[in-house]
Amino acid sequence: MYFKNFLIVCVLISAFNFYAVEAQNINDPSEIMLSIGGDPTSDYTVTWRTPQNDTKTVAQIVKAEANPDFEKKAKEVKGTSVTNYGDSKDRVSHTVRFTGLESNALYSYRVGNGKNWSEWFQFKTSKKENDRFSFIYFGDVQNDIKSLGSRTLRQAFQHLGKDASFMLFAGDLVSRSTDDYWSEFFYAGGWMFGTLPSVPTTGNHEYTGSSNKRVFSSHWSHIFGLPQNAPSSEYLNRFYWFDYQGVRFISLDSPVFNKENKDIQVILNWLENTLKNNPNKWSVVFTHYPVYSCSAGRNSEEYRNLLRPILEKHGVDLVLLGHDHTYCRGFNETNINERNVKNTPLYVVSVAGPKMYLLGLKPWSDVRGKDTQLYQNITVDGNTLYYDSYDVTGKLFDSFRLEKNIKGVNKLIENTVEN
Ligand SMILES: [Fe+2]
Repeated sequence: MYFKNFLIVCVLISAFNFYAVEAQNINDPSEIMLSIGGDPTSDYTVTWRTPQNDTKTVAQIVKAEANPDFEKKAKEVKGTSVTNYGDSKDRVSHTVRFTGLESNALYSYRVGNGKNWSEWFQFKTSKKENDRFSFIYFGDVQNDIKSLGSRTLRQAFQHLGKDASFMLFAGDLVSRSTDDYWSEFFYAGGWMFGTLPSVPTTGNHEYTGSSNKRVFSSHWSHIFGLPQNAPSSEYLNRFYWFDYQGVRFISLDSPVFNKENKDIQVILNWLENTLKNNPNKWSVVFTHYPVYSCSAGRNSEEYRNLLRPILEKHGVDLVLLGHDHTYCRGFNETNINERNVKNTPLYVVSVAGPKMYLLGLKPWSDVRGKDTQLYQNITVDGNTLYYDSYDVTGKLFDSFRLEKNIKGVNKLIENTVEN
């Protein structure tokens, strides 16, 4: 009898241990962000924060399995930490770069200090070959992120997250690059940011100071670990490119893309070479300032004069923009025959958050909108690019596809959108 009771107690103890409740601990990793970190077939970066003095940085990663015993096969990857992080210098920022992953594979990973761990996240690497894929494009989130920006991020994830490969942000993710704003951003996106990789470009609000003396966000490169192929080390995580299953994506840091920048020729050469050496059928540029402005009283002429000829010469297909807090989509083919144009780029300006501006009086675009929080699904499949913009209630707002012919020239086919 005594032995039987002993066995029952042992079973209960072991069961309790296996399914022990893990309460949230103040030392647990927070603000976990997954980025495409290089070649998306194999390289991803994860960052997170912990309280001060927790300087051990480690992640575990393994091919995902349904059997929860997969944990035992996980490989440990050490990372780097930076102490005195944040506006109050009271936290530690951690970064781990996963490299050499298998293409087209589902991975599980978690981050921590070896004792306090995050939950396990799952993400999928890209295929090596060209194949159909989708991504979500957001304009500025920027203001009232917890209150109102959150609904766009969450609606988009609920609607499109299952089929999306990554989230692309066209700058001004936050109105001020401070702990308070980033805290709202992470509140809004939560575990989505550890699950679906992000690829953001920088907006003017990722800087402080005036236009001739800008100071870059001290947070940005601790949050996003992006492909390390900038024109020079000064511009890491701001200018970068990556190829995803048949498309070259290029991030351009709008706020430093001007004639006053001493490095502008280096930047222009980098852009020329990145486009010239593109082996893919498609190219997408994402940058914050509109090449053609959408809002009343705005016009970035100098920026446009620097950028537009290169985009046209190399036949960039799609240019994804933010900054104007309105919606515009069009080619602006005015006087196009006078220019050296390989393929007319299609420009889109969109907005995800609640800050709204008036529309411009002289519209260049075919489709326009105002006072509407939006998100976009973009799918590339062979010679076709499908584009759908949705408002935050999930209603279709704008829809078209581009058909690329054998010469690489696109034909726009509009889809019916019911108002
Ligand atoms: Fe902006």
